[in-house]
Amino acid sequence: MDSAKLSLDGQDYELPVIEGSEGERGVDISRLRGESGAITLDPGYGNTGACESGICFINGEEGILRYRGYAIEQLAEHASFAEVCYLLIYGDLPSAEQLQEFSDGLTYHSMIHEDMKKFFEGYPASAHPMAVLSSMIASLATYYPEAEGRNGDDDLNIIRILAKSKTMAAWAYKKSIGQPLVYPDNRLSYCGNFLNMMFSVPTEDYEVPQVVENALNVLLILHADHEQNCSTSTVRMVASSQANIFAALSAGVCALWGPLHGGANQKVLEMLDMIRQDGSDYKKYVDMAKDKDNEFRMMGFGHRVYKNFDPRATILRKACDEVLEEMGVDDPLLEIAKQLEDVALNDEYFVERKLYPNVDFYSGVLYRAMGIPTNMFTVMFALGRLPGWIAHLKELRDDPTSRINRPRQIYTGPTARDYTQVAQR
Ligand code: CMC
Repeated sequence: MDSAKLSLDGQDYELPVIEGSEGERGVDISRLRGESGAITLDPGYGNTGACESGICFINGEEGILRYRGYAIEQLAEHASFAEVCYLLIYGDLPSAEQLQEFSDGLTYHSMIHEDMKKFFEGYPASAHPMAVLSSMIASLATYYPEAEGRNGDDDLNIIRILAKSKTMAAWAYKKSIGQPLVYPDNRLSYCGNFLNMMFSVPTEDYEVPQVVENALNVLLILHADHEQNCSTSTVRMVASSQANIFAALSAGVCALWGPLHGGANQKVLEMLDMIRQDGSDYKKYVDMAKDKDNEFRMMGFGHRVYKNFDPRATILRKACDEVLEEMGVDDPLLEIAKQLEDVALNDEYFVERKLYPNVDFYSGVLYRAMGIPTNMFTVMFALGRLPGWIAHLKELRDDPTSRINRPRQIYTGPTARDYTQVAQR
């Protein structure tokens, strides 16, 4: 085994080097503190591997993304979301029989307890659907209290979360627009069922457009996993304390919500709309994004890992064109999006920093064309990411060597001082 050497205070420490199946190398510092008293410091974790994982492989320099070894391009073209859920969670593609059983589970467990309907009545109409989704997922623990710690990670609870989340997400939307809740329909696919609960109304017939159902299938697959990231590592962190599966996944939803992570898709559309309302002068906003004294960032650009085109963005860009053409959507925001994309690919600031459009840039435009309201975009990301979170939670819990996650810090506060009364009592 290779090793690395670290010299500290005149003493050498030999650190094992771990190599992954794709040749990625990591210096194992797990014994460093015990032996030397020192820790490593890596704010933002840009150079820190928190675990070894067999679920997802990314090569950001070459723009590669694979789930369990399968290229994202192949999965997006040929697989169903249910199949990808199974692949991520159980490690291999399902047989026809396994897929049927799994898909049936996703259908039969779509209903949520009638009492939970009352929760929706309690939220204000303006409630953000991410707040509703995260609290609803956490609330499932009150209906399935046997799901304590690891005991709750069984196949049934996994199916329950995947199946019920789409119902809870659609109901959050229906509540926000004051329409009656629509129950799941067992005749429909996972994506069809969700779209039907979102868009059907009692007063007229609604049939899910095939092009929209197909686009949603691709979108969910593209979002299904992305190795370590703010939300997935949050799920692993919470699960490491042996909190129940619902609590850990609810925490993942909250972590995803932020605009630097999954919340970026909503912010992209808000930004495009802001530019349109401001006379479509996109160059002004490009200059603002480049100005270090201005806090404005070009939402939907840049990525911590991809320093090449995000492969998911390439797939979505094509899907966007197809869906918009087939649905006859003529959207002024799309024109602005294309102009910004052009800037990103040619402007020195963006080229130098390798700031390509990311997955959220195109997904926002596509969701809009599909009729999904802006404040639901991040919920769509969460629905897609659930199988990835579950796969990581399972991997962590099944690993007998895993321990509660507990990072260290370098303390920079005051040194010891004696208490003297400052405020009057
Ligand atoms: N607009 C303008 N400048 C940017 C942008 C942007 N969107 N993103 C990065 N930069 C600049 C940044 O100012 C810095 O410049 P300099 O080197 O001169 O100081 C340089 O590029 C590197 O940026 P960073 O902030 O160090 O990069 P990071 O890896 O910490 O952040 C990011 C990655 C995605 C948070 C960031 O690019 C960003 O804020 N993008 C906009 C939000 C967004 O689209 N997020 C969705 C990410 S994809 C979905 C997901 O996986 O969550």
